[in-house]
Amino acid sequence: MEVIIINGPNLNLLGKRETDIYGKIGFDDFLQQLRDENKAHHITYFQSNIEGELINKIQEMGFKCDGIILNSAGYSHTSVAIADAIRAVKAPVVEVHISNVFSRENYRQTLLTASACVGSISGLGLYGYKLALDFLLHQKSSE
Ligand code: DQA
Repeated sequence: MEVIIINGPNLNLLGKRETDIYGKIGFDDFLQQLRDENKAHHITYFQSNIEGELINKIQEMGFKCDGIILNSAGYSHTSVAIADAIRAVKAPVVEVHISNVFSRENYRQTLLTASACVGSISGLGLYGYKLALDFLLHQKSSE
């Protein structure tokens, strides 16, 4: 199975950025662990700070992979264009937020992208990405 994880702005700074909220582990270390635990599956990774690049990647992969795990970070709260891209593609998209956006500022509680996804996970740290992957594997195996 082919799954892509797409991370949005500032998530390249995981492990360094607001570690009290996002933790001390860099995404590369976490990804290595996820790949080691799921050797039967092909997990690709893309990160960008640029909205259009995220949309291009969703469009590019959304017709050829089996699932997308998406954390569009700050754009989740504002981007009609990313929500439209999610709706446009064939692959199921699961949204992940590392922090619990519902216990943070009011503006984080609007999630334009989440309603376009099959589901969303918020507040479970990096473990949310593992849960999203498990869901996509389960969904594919029950097709
Ligand atoms: C985030 C939550 C967003 O509100 C924030 O802008 C991020 C990260 C998360 O993973 O918790 O950059 O998506």
